[in-house]
Amino acid sequence: MKDILTLGIESSCDETSVSIVKNGREVLSNVINSQIKIHEKFGGVVPEIASRNHVEVISEVTKQSLKEAGKDINEIDLIACTYGPGLVGALLVGVSYGKALAYALNKPLIGTNHIKGHIAANYITHKELKPPFLCLIISGGHTHLVHIKDYNDFEILGKTRDDAIGEAFDKVARVIGLGYPGGPKVDKLAKEGEPNIELPKTHLDNLDFSFSGIKTAVINLHHKNPNVNKADLCASFEKTVTEILVQNTIKAARKLNINTIALAGGVSANSYIRKEFLNLEKTNNMKIYYPDPILCTDNAAMIASAGYYSYISGEISNLELNAVPNLKI
Ligand code: KG4
Ligand code: ZN
Repeated sequence: MKDILTLGIESSCDETSVSIVKNGREVLSNVINSQIKIHEKFGGVVPEIASRNHVEVISEVTKQSLKEAGKDINEIDLIACTYGPGLVGALLVGVSYGKALAYALNKPLIGTNHIKGHIAANYITHKELKPPFLCLIISGGHTHLVHIKDYNDFEILGKTRDDAIGEAFDKVARVIGLGYPGGPKVDKLAKEGEPNIELPKTHLDNLDFSFSGIKTAVINLHHKNPNVNKADLCASFEKTVTEILVQNTIKAARKLNINTIALAGGVSANSYIRKEFLNLEKTNNMKIYYPDPILCTDNAAMIASAGYYSYISGEISNLELNAVPNLKI
């Protein structure tokens, strides 16, 4: 069978990324231009600034990606671009660029769901991974427990009722003065602390999550006692949220009798969460997968992979594709 080269484009938030992926799983290049430094001083992503930066760099990122892959643009078979969920102005840059490329090259255009991209990051890191499995998507915008029945057949088993887990990490970091983005900073500081602070755990009777209670508890605790040990607070926060993630995942695995679990999304780069999930291999006889750290946060390789699997199951977009900021899985 002829190799299929997908050019993936990601611009849903503050990373402009273009990647070339062979046959859905082999990354030839994955160029990521992060705007973190630009947004850092505002304490979060400023949508208007994000869009303008995507426009400025997207052509250069594409050229660089083709160069690193050693491919000419005419060798590309498919164009996959993220069309949601995300910031509308930011998404529109990648969608417009993808449409222009697909039109000019006369190649299929695949509008790709960013959340499906996070799931597909696991296919790149783990060549043997195939559906069915359970995927826990934990990122700045999402907390979803999903049954991956097939490459393009998903069932959401549980999701957050309020904040995404990454938002909670970022908020905790902001409150205790660690800056943005908070997740990696909480991860680092927690290693120096002890999980000795009792924090509330919200148990819901289905497979949904809720993180607003613990987020508020951390904020109140810090206001009441600004001298609280920050490392202990980070360690306690991580331990509590991880217990919730693990409990729901075990519940879902038992319910569906599935022992293969994949983690995905920016928060799945967290070292404590990874360690606790890996323990389930011994304690619960599960097989745990997670993507390489560079594929956990936003990147275009995962979009190219998800786009490839949409293409082979016949899901092709037309040039009327538009950004859908609140796109569901
Ligand atoms: O997947 P992602 O890059 O963007 C979304 O699609 O939302 O996730 C970004 C989120 C941010 O909230 C960031 O703080 C969090 O992932 N994050 C982490 C770590 N690395 C990134 N959270 C905890 N520990 C980490 N090591
Ligand atoms: Zn993401």
